[in-house]
Amino acid sequence: MNVVSTREELAVARKELPGRVAVVMTMGALHDGHVELVRQARTQADSVVVTIFVNPLQFGANEDLSTYPRTLDQDLALLDGLADVVFTPTPEVVYPTEALVRVSAGALGTVFEGASRPGHFDGVLTVVLKLMHLTTPDVALFGQKDAQQLAAIRRMVSDLDVPVKVVAVPTVREPDGLAMSSRNRYLTDEQRSTALLLSKALRTRDVAAGRALFDSSSADLDYLERVDSSTFEVTPEGDLLIIAAKVGTTRLLDNLPLKDNS
Ligand code: PAJ
Repeated sequence: MNVVSTREELAVARKELPGRVAVVMTMGALHDGHVELVRQARTQADSVVVTIFVNPLQFGANEDLSTYPRTLDQDLALLDGLADVVFTPTPEVVYPTEALVRVSAGALGTVFEGASRPGHFDGVLTVVLKLMHLTTPDVALFGQKDAQQLAAIRRMVSDLDVPVKVVAVPTVREPDGLAMSSRNRYLTDEQRSTALLLSKALRTRDVAAGRALFDSSSADLDYLERVDSSTFEVTPEGDLLIIAAKVGTTRLLDNLPLKDNS
């Protein structure tokens, strides 16, 4: 496994990769959800590049950029034998000049996660496009866990004619149903059990019944809605249930694709 952190090192390592190349982009603090993306990447391509970069552009002024978990040594140990190249740039490498020109997520960037995190999806799309240019993959894999991010990336790739195939990977959960997330490590034991309300609410497959579960809980429900998974417009025929709630100070997300459209 080749660990590189400059653009020049990455370009050399990329040239040496044989066959089709898949990329998995992450912010590190890797868990089994990320590892599943990397395993799926191997089934999609001959070579696998993983990027680890906590992207300042997608964090708001009052968000957890400075405290976001950084566990590079553990991350590299997890990836050993799974990835061919790991790109771990600093912010100065990714943004040598101020990020003046950015990708806009349009209407997808102003609803739900975009409404509570203004500019977040523009920051995500900007770094995803840059990392696509830097790693020039055939395939890029993203988690269903972050469904709105996935929709925005799919739309960027389509609207901007980016020659990369986007593959979605189903959400990886803990045995009790909690969707794996790097932010789960912020939770106390008590908050960890409260957090189970998100997946429980989704399993009701019903907006009203799911919302009712939060009535007498310490978790702060932000939204639970049925939406179209491409546009994130609320509609009774939507193919996706989405939920966000704050448990303590930690904002958690989850969603459930409604495959049979029931
Ligand atoms: P991060 O939160 O580290 O997630 C990296 C990738 O792992 C994303 O595609 C995310 O959807 C996926 N992922 C996270 N938890 C998952 C789970 N439980 N099951 C399946 N996939 C999961 O998302 C980001 O980083 C950033 O916004 C990024 C795309 C890297 C741009 O900075």
